[in-house]
Formats: sequence, structure tokens, C-alpha cells
Amino acid sequence: MEAFKAALLLEPHSAEAILGYNRGLQRVVPPWHFAMMNDVERATAFETAIRATVTQHDLVLDIGTGSGLLSLMAARCGAQNVVTCEYNPYVAAVARRIIELNGYAPQIRVCDKLSSDLCVGVDLPRRADLLTLEVVDCGLLGEGILPTIVHAREHLITDNAMIIPRAATIHAHLLESQELRDRNCVADVTGFDLREFNSLSSLEYLPARLSQVRHAILTESVEVARFDFLRGDLTPGRRKVCSRSTKSGWCDAVVFWFSLDLAEGITISNDPSNVASHWEQAVQSVRVPFQVTMGDVLEFVVAYDWRGLVLETVRAHQHLDFA
Ligand SMILES: C[S@@+](CC[C@H](N)C(=O)[O-])C[C@H]1O[C@@H](n2cnc3c(N)ncnc32)[C@H](O)[C@@H]1O
Repeated sequence: MEAFKAALLLEPHSAEAILGYNRGLQRVVPPWHFAMMNDVERATAFETAIRATVTQHDLVLDIGTGSGLLSLMAARCGAQNVVTCEYNPYVAAVARRIIELNGYAPQIRVCDKLSSDLCVGVDLPRRADLLTLEVVDCGLLGEGILPTIVHAREHLITDNAMIIPRAATIHAHLLESQELRDRNCVADVTGFDLREFNSLSSLEYLPARLSQVRHAILTESVEVARFDFLRGDLTPGRRKVCSRSTKSGWCDAVVFWFSLDLAEGITISNDPSNVASHWEQAVQSVRVPFQVTMGDVLEFVVAYDWRGLVLETVRAHQHLDFA
């Protein structure tokens, strides 16, 4: 990118340099930014929560600036002092321009840093009173929200600081879906045995818009994880949960979705019925499909760490080990 940038200084209209620079940019700035910024439900919910929480005298820390949207909202809601950080320097530079163009440069300071590199006394005048952050993927945990909050609670915000979002839950269903299975598994194709390729399949969830995939839901929805961002223990763990099967079939996958509690009475979710959300659902294939009988009580073990969530085992009430 830097080479193409240098070329553009010499030849500003070089089509090759313009395209080369843009190709580099697409690799470092994920394309989901646009769909995310245009998700009106997300934006409205965050601004409503910020307005209900922030006061003029609060020092606001916004982790993960992106376009600067949450920082701009905090400033529009009255915050006089907002510090925001963004580790991607290309994104941080654009955010700085957006903030200036919208007239909020005096209130908002952008630091080109990972939040874990911020220092109170250097980047922030003191610990912040309000932390805003939206570092959430379709399965909640993939962008590192847990370690980011753990670090911020320890080093960057006051003991009584508010956090938006303040809590989250993750729910799941087991599914029958050949279509989802085919996205992460292969067998015989035109008479050739390609199963060896399955050694390269994903053990973790992938994004999928469930409403656009043929599937049958085999179980009641079940809460598999709950996080209290204000005071809870956010270290990696595993949890055993039970759900009754509502339909017989072959279980191919599990679908996860989250609900974010932003402030009193303000939640957003990427549950499968929310087709307008830019977040799809998180779908994990089970390693070996297994049969589920209607009425079975299924015991799941779900493990989460600081980068994701996996369904480890499912047992029917007879304690058969399927995984
Ligand atoms: C999902 S986007 C959200 C952007 C913006 N806050 C919004 O809500 O529109 C997250 C952004 O945070 C940045 N980011 C994620 N974790 C970060 C961290 N720990 N420190 C600094 N930047 C981070 C990413 O590069 C990305 O631009």
C-alpha cells in the first residue's frame, strides 16, 4: 500500500496505482464496516442508550472508533470529553476527518492505538466514567469483547463506570440442515471421494443468515452463556445446559445468536428472526451428525474463550456421547 501511495504522488491518475492501493485497503479494512454503519436499528439503540447514560461531565472512552459513530453520538448527547481508540491507522485517519467535518473535533480525541496500549495520564487524562464499545461479531465474542473489557476495567475506567453494552447473553438451537452441513463438509463428488478435505473444515462457527438456508429447528432455544460486563467474571469457561428436542431429525449444526443489553430497557439481538440486522447468525457444524428424537432432553457443553464459542458435546438423556 505504501508503495502504491508513493506511486500516486508521482502519478496521481495512474489506474494501476489507484487499483493496487485499493486492493491493499480492502485487505486491511473489512468490508462489513458499511453494512454495520447502515444498520439503523443498531445505531438507534446505541444512541438511545448513550443518551440515557451519559452526563456532560463524564469522561467517555469509546473503544474501537470505526467511523467515529459512537464517539459522535456521545458528544451529541452532551459529553464534553471523549477519547476514542482505533488500532487500524487507515480507519483512525478517516474517523478523525469525519469527526472534524461534523464539528466535534474539540470534544473528541482519536488515538491510533489498541485499547490495551492506552495509558491513563498519557492518552486519557484520568480513568473514564463511561465506556462504549461495539466490538461484536455474529457470535458475540470473535472480535475480543471479553479481554477488551477485562483490560479496560482493570486499567482504563473507574470502579463505578458504566459500560454500554452492560451485559449480553448467547442463545442456541440445534438444527437439521444439509445445506449448512455442505458449507463445511464434503463427501463424494461425481464419484470421487473428497472426504480427506474435511481435515480442513472449521471447528468453530461461521456466519450464516439462517432465514436464507433450508433448515429444521430440532430443539427449544436455550441460553448457553451470560456475561455481566460491569462486574462479572469474564474469564474463559464452559457451561452445561439442557434443552428438550421439539422435533426428531439428524442434527447437523448449532446456531448461536446474542442479545446485547445496552441500558435499561434497550436491547439488540441478531436472533434468526431479525433479518434486518447486519449481523448474521453464528453457525457451527457438528463433527458427526447424530439422531435426535422428539422429547429427548439434550445436555450441551458449550465452551467459550476470548476469541469464540464452541459446542463441545451433546448428550441425550440416556447419556449417549455423540460428539
Ligand atoms: C465493529 S467496529 C465498530 C465501529 C464503531 N464503534 C461503530 O460502532 O460503528 C469495531 C472497530 O474497532 C476496532 N477495534 C476492535 N477492537 C479494538 C481494540 N481493542 N482497540 C482499538 N480498536 C479496536 C476495529 O478495528 C474496528 O474498526
